Amino acid sequence: MAAIIELKNAGFSATEGRILQGVTVEFYEGRTTAIVGPSGGGKSTALKISAGLLVPDQGEVLYNGININTMNRSENLDFRRESAFVFQDSALWANQNLYQILELPLRIHYPQMTKDERTDRINAVTAEVGYRKDLRIRPALLSMGEQKLIGFARALLCNPTLLFLDEWTESLDEFSADRLVKIVKRKQKEGASILFVCHDMRIIKDIADYIVIIADGTVAFQETKEHILNDPELSNYLRMGMAL
Ligand SMILES: Nc1ncnc2c1ncn2[C@@H]1O[C@H](COP(=O)(O)OP(=O)(O)O)[C@@H](O)[C@H]1O
Ligand SMILES: [Mg+2]
Repeated sequence: MAAIIELKNAGFSATEGRILQGVTVEFYEGRTTAIVGPSGGGKSTALKISAGLLVPDQGEVLYNGININTMNRSENLDFRRESAFVFQDSALWANQNLYQILELPLRIHYPQMTKDERTDRINAVTAEVGYRKDLRIRPALLSMGEQKLIGFARALLCNPTLLFLDEWTESLDEFSADRLVKIVKRKQKEGASILFVCHDMRIIKDIADYIVIIADGTVAFQETKEHILNDPELSNYLRMGMAL
């Protein structure tokens, strides 16, 4: 299997200290990897570094063998169109309405699209995630769960082949979470590569192929889902890590 994303000794520090030690890990094409571990262990940081949204201060990150942080403009635009990120805090623009937020990626990546085509695409992705309310309102008027749905819809817009999902079912009711799980399964069938952070063992068991445990800013363990779940000691460690 080929690595679609590869971290080579990637590290990250903030003013308070080291958040990610030198992490070396490969995420394979067409695979769904769950990143799990205790809160504050560095999962979101690792995911953002993998997506090129944070620049590591040590080591490098490769997308199909190309260093994400030294890509030229056209390689970077391709990477941005082919990948999408759902943020733990949704990260919707505060001063735009939902329609404008969803229109922006289409304007950037498909400049030839007409306004009607953009509207059709926006209606299709919002219907798919189950958001049926007004699109002409700002994110502040939405519940956290509704913001998550819009963040997920935004990630689907350009038909990504690489998805980064950070705590993507948090604050959603079970019915809405199941709807997103179904969408992820469709993306899996289409061959997408998926990296996701999640605390829901039911979802991890359902959709992950591979599990990477991140704790204290480093990869504590990685193996196939079957290997981890069939090993009583490892699955117990996983359950304890999730509970922290
Ligand atoms: N930009 C930052 N500045 C300072 N501390 C940060 C920053 N980003 C993350 N942290 C801290 O680094 C640790 C790891 O964060 P994060 O990657 O969000 O963990 P996780 O997603 O596993 O909960 C946390 O203690 C968090 O508070
Ligand atoms: Mg996080």
